[in-house]
Amino acid sequence: MTAATAGPVSPLMSTYPVPPVTFVRGAGSRLWDVDGNEYLDFLSGLAVTSLGHSHPEVADALAEQARTLLHTSNLFGTLPGPEVASTLDRLLGGGGKVFFTNSGAEANECALKLARKWGGRGRHVVVSAWGSFHGRTLATLHATGQPQKHEAFQPLPEGFRHVTWNDLDALEASLDPTVAAVLLEPVQGEGGVNPATQEFFEGARRLCTERGILFMVDEVQTGLGRTGKWFGHQHFGVVPDVVTMAKALGNGVPIGACWARDEVAQVFEPGDHATTYGGQPLAASAARAVLAVMEREDVPARATEAGGKLAEALATLPSVAEVRGMGLLVAAELRPGHDARLVAASALEKGLIVNAVTPTALRLAPWLLLTDAEIDEAMWILAAALDEVGPASEGPAT
Ligand SMILES: Cc1ncc(COP(=O)(O)O)c(C=O)c1O
Repeated sequence: MTAATAGPVSPLMSTYPVPPVTFVRGAGSRLWDVDGNEYLDFLSGLAVTSLGHSHPEVADALAEQARTLLHTSNLFGTLPGPEVASTLDRLLGGGGKVFFTNSGAEANECALKLARKWGGRGRHVVVSAWGSFHGRTLATLHATGQPQKHEAFQPLPEGFRHVTWNDLDALEASLDPTVAAVLLEPVQGEGGVNPATQEFFEGARRLCTERGILFMVDEVQTGLGRTGKWFGHQHFGVVPDVVTMAKALGNGVPIGACWARDEVAQVFEPGDHATTYGGQPLAASAARAVLAVMEREDVPARATEAGGKLAEALATLPSVAEVRGMGLLVAAELRPGHDARLVAASALEKGLIVNAVTPTALRLAPWLLLTDAEIDEAMWILAAALDEVGPASEGPAT
């Protein structure tokens, strides 16, 4: 153990649990800890390292950019950012503009400010879903439909309303004239890997169009190939007004983006929104390399194929009651009697990284270049962890 994990007093604020392991190196789907132990990573830093750890093309792009130009501020133009924005616009079907941020929460903050400026005074409410996750800034925390996370920070900025996930009637009932936008994830990631239904997403788009409300989709976790399409909403055949993303865009380098249809984007005038680092050359050069590799490897197709195999393999484990998700964003709901946190801890000890997205479900979000051999290896370790923690016979199938 290192001083960072072993000492009784950590120099870090206690916002995160005490880390069970300290990593020092990564390559592809593998991580190594301070003691040299190897791990198979089926979480990808929470759906971030979609191309695997230390991807050589991303590393080269970063090194080259670091030697060339790191930062100038947004008072001046730089080259990689606009190129990345054009690629994102193309992958989203075109006709929009991009604002770069440093994180997912900031991408959503941009969307929320767009909605407020677009709606105008008195029409500022954003409707999101119970169980959603949109970030930890004060506004995105209120958009997040998890009241237990709100309590300590009240009063939160006003103008947020929540409806039951996948309940189109409830959504319709919430849309009064004060509503500027609806904000939804295609798959609720942090909420437990709960995919939207076709009826809900299509209906939400229709209601927003009928009432002149913005349909904003949070693709921070689902974006850039993870679900088997470039963006999760593309499974439902809808075109949003605003799309936010982050995580996979930099493959570990902090960068996020808020895309909006031209007509919506144009409500922002110079001075309305800004961030010192947004779209700066280092992060943008990483994103440019990431998108080039992703397009060359056709990561959505790979996620579809590997995701199907992973879901099939998980479903054969006797302790798994249900497999849900899209592409390579998957949850395995465990049969009653199993504690997902204990299973994840046991898997980690055996060299597999997954996480307990709820007390009863494991989340798997491996890299998108996943191989059959890696699926086999993960299933073998997971089966051993499930055996160790609790027998499959403890409860009936749900
Ligand atoms: C759907 C969604 N939106 C927003 C966020 C917040 O992103 P960040 O942690 O980069 O601020 C997350 C993070 O998990 C997320 O999953």
